[in-house]
Amino acid sequence: MVKPRTQFICQNCGTAHSRWVGKCEGCGEWNTVVEEDPMGGIGSGPGKVPKKGRPVALTALSGEIEEAPRIHTGIAELDRATGGGFVRGSAVLIGGDPGIGKSTLLMQAAAALSRRGHRIIYVSGEEAVAQVRLRAQRLHAAETDVLLAAETNVEDILATVGEGKRPDLVIIDSIQTLWSDTADAAPGTVTQVRTGVQAMIRFAKQTGAAMVLVGHVTKEGQIAGPRVVEHMVDAVLYFEGDRGHHYRILRTVKNRFGPTDEIGVFEMSDKGLREVNNPSELFLGERNEKSPGAAVFAGMEGTRPVLVEVQALVAPTSLGTPRRAIVGWDSARLSMILAVLEAHCGVRLGQHDVYLNVAGGYRITEPAADLAVASALVSSLAGLALPADCVYFGEVSLSGAIRPVAHTAQRLKEAEKLGFSQAVLPAGSADLPKGTGGRWSEIDSLPDLVARIAGSKAALKREDEDV
Ligand code: TYD
Ligand code: MG
Repeated sequence: MVKPRTQFICQNCGTAHSRWVGKCEGCGEWNTVVEEDPMGGIGSGPGKVPKKGRPVALTALSGEIEEAPRIHTGIAELDRATGGGFVRGSAVLIGGDPGIGKSTLLMQAAAALSRRGHRIIYVSGEEAVAQVRLRAQRLHAAETDVLLAAETNVEDILATVGEGKRPDLVIIDSIQTLWSDTADAAPGTVTQVRTGVQAMIRFAKQTGAAMVLVGHVTKEGQIAGPRVVEHMVDAVLYFEGDRGHHYRILRTVKNRFGPTDEIGVFEMSDKGLREVNNPSELFLGERNEKSPGAAVFAGMEGTRPVLVEVQALVAPTSLGTPRRAIVGWDSARLSMILAVLEAHCGVRLGQHDVYLNVAGGYRITEPAADLAVASALVSSLAGLALPADCVYFGEVSLSGAIRPVAHTAQRLKEAEKLGFSQAVLPAGSADLPKGTGGRWSEIDSLPDLVARIAGSKAALKREDEDV
């Protein structure tokens, strides 16, 4: 038999290399490539003769469909993110930075499910029983019937959860601590993590128990990240948030049983995570309505409108190359808006530092925020505060035209609900509601916006030249 060559696998993305390299060819990360034994992996039994295949029955695409059987936690924000509860027999990966609150969320979910009469097993590989108990007490989950084990060996875990009555939900916290006797690699490597996750998924499919797997996002690449198992599980949720802020967002990035653009919003308190049913109020919490450079963006997260404040500070630079610092938005997108403002609106920002911040530590991913960003920038440069009761949304194209975006009616409805009576939006927006009390200004180009804010284009230019 030919001796198998060892492989060098990136712990970040799983790309296999034939030799060691400093920088992964797959994801471009440095120092993430580790030597692993391919014989230790899944389905790599030593030199087995392949068995003869057995034909399976082929079937038509049409036919009876059963609704996926789900278990609801009753925590509305969590149920929303999972698409209506955990699906029996499926595996869900919950990723996130260490310390963001994954264990807290899952302990609360476990307690809620247990109160509803489900059999829940929580397997902690990171914390000792006493530590988990302490957290459970703090979360008022200690009096529930959640069953707890502190174990990291895959075979032992499977033997434990497979014993007795079938569990409704098993939580594995975390996949990076799993290790199997069958895989010949160090714990935390791609091979070990994949072998462990594979075994857990197999258990879920065989027994119909729902499986929740926790994975830490890793930057250093010393241990495998959750991305290396994303393709194996049925749903992937990421728990995000800024350490400096209390709010946390559970974002769906993959879901075989539901929509992928949903979010659940939580707030971390001293008694655990609290649901936030109206995120807009949270992100607009501490507004200073009179200061220039702040624009309220009427955004969408999945099916749900979210109002958030975009703050800009434009100040003359003392450096050769002006600074561009951005928190919560895409830097390439900002460069584009700045270029369009320069090219089509005569707004010169080449001698100005630009700071852009999205309030509350929130991260905007929609291009519809272009108009709000441009408004905040122009407002800061001109030193003119925008109307306090106005929201902005629309996509800016390179020609300076404002393009319509989806969900106009929903954005405006949310704005009205929160007391905003004006909106600046793209001309030709499709589902503009008729006969509502608000004042909607439709604009079709960025120069229109600049002229609106500065009173006249000339006034803004004069001010710009003064500096
Ligand atoms: P944890 O759930 O342990 O994070 P993860 O499992 O994602 O690593 O949460 C850790 C942080 O949450 C920790 O810094 C303390 C904070 N926390 C609270 O603020 N309130 C609470 O009630 C709990 C349990 C944790
Ligand atoms: Mg944890």
